[in-house]
Parts: sequence; C-alpha cells; structure tokens
Amino acid sequence: MWPVTAHPPAAVQVVAHRGSSEDVPEHTLAAYRKAIDDGADALECDVRLTADGHLVCVHDRRVNRTSNGRGLVSTLELADLATLDFGSWKPGGVYADDPEAPEWDRKSVLTLDRLLQLVVDADRPVQLAIETKHPTRYAGLVERRLVELLDRFGLAHPVEGRPSQVRVMSFSQLSLRRMRQLAPRLPAVFLMERVPLRFRDGTLPKGVRIAGPSIEIVRAHPRFVARLHRAGHRVHVWTVDKPEDVDLCLKLGVDAIITNRPAGVLRQIFG
Ligand code: G3P
Ligand code: CA
Repeated sequence: MWPVTAHPPAAVQVVAHRGSSEDVPEHTLAAYRKAIDDGADALECDVRLTADGHLVCVHDRRVNRTSNGRGLVSTLELADLATLDFGSWKPGGVYADDPEAPEWDRKSVLTLDRLLQLVVDADRPVQLAIETKHPTRYAGLVERRLVELLDRFGLAHPVEGRPSQVRVMSFSQLSLRRMRQLAPRLPAVFLMERVPLRFRDGTLPKGVRIAGPSIEIVRAHPRFVARLHRAGHRVHVWTVDKPEDVDLCLKLGVDAIITNRPAGVLRQIFG
C-alpha cells in the first residue's frame, strides 16, 4: 500500500519536468529533492548513455549548455562527466546559497541509478517518467540497459492491474516498441511535438495507452484531448508553466501536467 500522499488526491497528476527545474539546475539530485519537497506526484527525466554504458540524466546531446564541460555525452565516460559542474550554469537556484545543501547534489552529473534510489527511498509515493533520447543511435542498447537497471530495482515488470512506479516516454515509436518487447507491462507515453496524420483520430501506436502532446498542440487543437480520451487513452501534457495553460489543461481534464514549476502549479490547483 502507498503511504500518505503529498497533497489531496486530484484527478490530475503534477509531474516535475527535469526536477523543479525552474528553481534548481535541471537533472541534478537537488532539483529532484526539491520536486519531492514541492509535492510533485512524479518526476520526469531524460536519459542518455555514456561511452562506457551508464545511463545518465542529461537532456541535450552535448554537455555544453548545462555544465562547464564540452562534448557529446555518448563520447564521454561517466568518470569524465563526474569531473564536471552541472550546477553553476544556472544563477540564483534556490539551493545556490544554502550551506546545508550538499554540493554534490547541486553540481554532479546524476545517474539514473541514483535517481531511482531517490524515488524508491522517498517517504511518500513518487512516480518516475523516463524519456529515452535519440534511441536509434545505439541499436537498442539504451532500452536494454534501462530495463536491466529497472529490473535491479524490481520496477521493470509491474504486477498486472497494480499502478507502476515507473513509465517510459519517447518521441520515437521504435524506442517504445523496443520497450514493449523488453518490458511489456511498463506504461509507455508517446510524446508528440506535432500530431502525426495517422494519429489525428486519437489512436496511438500499438501497446501505448498514454499520449504526450506538447502544450502547443493542446492550445491549437484542444479537441484532440477529448478525442484521445474517447479512444480510451490518458493525456500527459508538457511543458505547462504558464497559469493560463494550467487552466486550459484543467478545463480539458488532462491526466498529467508536466511542468518546470510543480510548486506553483500545485498552488494554482489546490490554492
Ligand atoms: O516530458 C516531455 C518533454 O520533456 C519532452 O521534451 O525536450 O523537454 O525532453 P523535452
Ligand atoms: Ca524530456
């Protein structure tokens, strides 16, 4: 049984995009700790494979934007990434001047392993939505490593009919197909930046039950949400930071709001 939740149950789940990344450098342990403190129902992260086969939480192909280093994640080893500072690029993070916040949490590259540990150790239920990036580069290695890692935490094969603590997301149908073969009971989210012609009617790729349209799609085509719901799918919208977009999502009855500012969104929902 789940212990107590962080806030009253709502129809909509609030998901911290890259952690509480408006306040704290994205994809750092500190950003995820803050998201849990903020009351987020779930955490979102992007994963990439290092040259020596570790899954790390980094959004871009290169480390240039979010660290003091340069280069492709895929050509660097974990030991190389461990020498970089992934925190100082973002000025004014809430933990920046807090001597109590461990420096490692604010600055170090975060492995998916460590993030999973945070999630399973949390003192309340927290879900994790893991996005695979550029999965075609490694001929399925990302998905295999991901399932191996989830298996170590007992999270790769949730019991039928019970809520899964982890879900996978991708813009790539190929990646979702690979995940379905390796871990068929893991919920999958098909992310969309535009609506592919063949999915305009609200259908989704085989085995996928959750749609992940951008807020831009939802603004332009609000009726698409109802179409997805009528087809029996859930709808998780990203990245919803503006109060008017939160209102739109609530009005349309979306199932999850993925946001860089979970505390603000939760205040807007619950007052
Ligand atoms: O949650 C989905 C969203 O994160 C997809 O876009 O570029 O922020 O990974 P991106
Ligand atoms: Ca993402």
